[in-house]
Amino acid sequence: MPTPDAHADLGARVDAAVTAALAAIDAASTTADLQAAKSAHNGQGSELASLNASLRDIAPADRKAAGQTIGAGRARVADAIAARQAELALVEEAAQLEAERVDVTALPRIRSRGGRHPLTMLMDEMSDVFVGMGWEVAEGPELEHEWYNFDALNVDPDHPARSESDTFYVAPADRHMVLRTQTSPVQVRTLLTRELPTYIVAPGRVYRTDDIDATHLPVFTQLEGLAVDKGITMANLRGTLEHLARAMFGEEAKIRLRPNYFPFTEPSAEMDVWHPGMRGGARWVEWGGCGMVNPNVLRAAGVDPDVYSGFAFGMGIERTLQFRYLLDDMRDMIEGDVRFTEQFGMVI
Ligand code: FA5
Ligand code: MG
Repeated sequence: MPTPDAHADLGARVDAAVTAALAAIDAASTTADLQAAKSAHNGQGSELASLNASLRDIAPADRKAAGQTIGAGRARVADAIAARQAELALVEEAAQLEAERVDVTALPRIRSRGGRHPLTMLMDEMSDVFVGMGWEVAEGPELEHEWYNFDALNVDPDHPARSESDTFYVAPADRHMVLRTQTSPVQVRTLLTRELPTYIVAPGRVYRTDDIDATHLPVFTQLEGLAVDKGITMANLRGTLEHLARAMFGEEAKIRLRPNYFPFTEPSAEMDVWHPGMRGGARWVEWGGCGMVNPNVLRAAGVDPDVYSGFAFGMGIERTLQFRYLLDDMRDMIEGDVRFTEQFGMVI
């Protein structure tokens, strides 16, 4: 029959079991450790479980108090396990997140496949302004016959532009081939092959022996325009150029025509452009050349100048890019450095 001593003894055993359990729970540094501590100290065969099982040997009168003592001990152990479980879960979740951390600022390891060059894009954009008005896009060869590049354009055999100091002649000399110095030969090819009336633009590469500097390249691109119809006037030319200038440089852009000489136009003008963003405030800059198609050119291409008239223009596409984005140095356009092209958002 249990005595008050026996109950005191039970209390001491419960305390000891609880103390051991709490120490093991505290020492558990992983949820696996904690599971082990739980089964050793509160599971089947543990001291607390066997004390609980021994309740049936206790006199019914003392059983309730003994049950409460053991129950309280087991409850403390269960609470400690739950609390430690929560702590360990947090620690382990943090460790897992750390292990799976992704650096969202890291550069993707995708190799750039390159992109279109801003000049190519601009060439298309300029052509599109005209395509939008119903004009067609024409082409001619870069290796051109002297007749198209000069003679048919009314350029004298001894005009300075024809000299070897300005033009790349391609051997053998008796074939009279040049790297075209302008896109204007496409005017002649157009008049010889297309039905009238005709409205074309011809973007393309041209070659000159010019020294390279911030505003000149020996290989550059031009956009040629030609409109031949009945009753074409200088006012049509002006309106067309103003339209292009606004499309390229914004609604406030202005153009100015200065009298000039080109053998293939009469009258001829140099065309300057201005827009509010332009460096140096009110500075006008040369953008291209233009004029009314010289009747001699129409005749050379078999067009009757008494029936048809036309205007033509040609401007530098590098210059257009330069003025539009206020670029200091045209040489950056040909270095092939992707850091230049990237600024135009052109890397795929
Ligand atoms: C011509 O080439 C004429 N064919 C333009 C023309 C067409 C006149 C139709 C009348 C009718 P010019 O040599 O001025 O003209 O060149 C035209 C434009 O090309 C220049 O205004 C400039 O924008 C650009 N340009 C000329 N040389 C270079 C160069 N070395 N580098 C870059 N751009 C150039
Ligand atoms: Mg010029």
